[in-house]
Amino acid sequence: MKNALESLPEILLLGPGPSTTHPEVLHALGRPTIGHLDPKFIELMDETKALLQRLAHTNHPLTLPISGTGSAGMETAFVNFIEPGDRVLVLQNGVFGTRMKDVAQRLRAEVDALDFDWGAPVDPDRLRTHLTGNRYDIIAVVHAETSTGVRNPLDEIAAIVRPTGALFLVDSVTGLGGIPVTLDDWGVDIFYSGTQKCLACPPGLAPFSASGRALAKLRARTSKVPNWYLDLSLISNYWEGAKRAYHHTAPINMIYGLYAALRVILEEGEEAVFARHRAAHEGLVAGLDQLGLELLVEPACRLPMLNAVKVPAGIDEAAVRSRLLADHAIEIGAGLGPLAGNIWRIGLMGHNARPEIVDRVLAALAACLK
Ligand SMILES: Cc1ncc(COP(=O)(O)O)c(C=O)c1O
Repeated sequence: MKNALESLPEILLLGPGPSTTHPEVLHALGRPTIGHLDPKFIELMDETKALLQRLAHTNHPLTLPISGTGSAGMETAFVNFIEPGDRVLVLQNGVFGTRMKDVAQRLRAEVDALDFDWGAPVDPDRLRTHLTGNRYDIIAVVHAETSTGVRNPLDEIAAIVRPTGALFLVDSVTGLGGIPVTLDDWGVDIFYSGTQKCLACPPGLAPFSASGRALAKLRARTSKVPNWYLDLSLISNYWEGAKRAYHHTAPINMIYGLYAALRVILEEGEEAVFARHRAAHEGLVAGLDQLGLELLVEPACRLPMLNAVKVPAGIDEAAVRSRLLADHAIEIGAGLGPLAGNIWRIGLMGHNARPEIVDRVLAALAACLK
């Protein structure tokens, strides 16, 4: 019988995610599967939670991986804490803010969106002004907008949101493991991420955290969480406490992978990991400059792990991506929405944030542009 796995090419994943899986994570994924209620597995779950708390800088007890990709994290973030009629503000400057709005609207929240240009950060002054006349139950923002390469100013946004009393909801699917995520300092109440970016794991889990304030809102609900699979009040019975009641069969080997990925990052040291991402980004920008290529985003708010590169006039952007893949086994990403056709997205995430990877993509790009 033909085995399609044998002909899988080895591609350097430099798009917006998934990124290349770290070899130690790949090894962990292949460890023997044990039962989801085996005491050894429960121990590993507890250690994974503790490592996640360390990396996200939070003491929130409810910090765990949700089964599913980043979008499952997003659904969990909204479905548990919204009741129909709740007022939600989404700060929107890319695809993922737009997706948040859609998710919240489907739950019959009253959703306002404050729009900012794609490629520009959220403007704290506009947010401050908007909040003088408006009250919200939840205010949501994407930390690292993968669709544009913008890093939103979380420190400033957090300082504006906190005094309003709204629950502060943050997506850092692309940020976690590449730039600092400091949930308790920011006062974040609801947080989710994804495994396939800077954590250098395959897609499949969404690290998640909820504050005591968020959980108080969950407990005070007058209606059931309208999604059984993502209901945190049920999931937490499996992830917390002495009883560990079965909810759904945990994706056991993916949790091995996440555990290994968190260990890899924390053993290297967060500061070293962030510096490595910055250095790779700077190397890439310098090399792109020599090729006459510019970035979309202003230097002050660029994400190191996601570089949005303007496509020069007269270049067929899709043809360049196809040649990179066919001739150099490198995948980069295209633009989305209004940026489709105008940018390439080059990810230097996790294990790929290294100088040799930067050199390889720059050389390949130079060859393709010739
Ligand atoms: C910022 C952001 N949020 C949410 C998601 C959705 O994650 P997933 O595609 O893993 O469901 C992504 C995916 O790229 C993302 O970049």
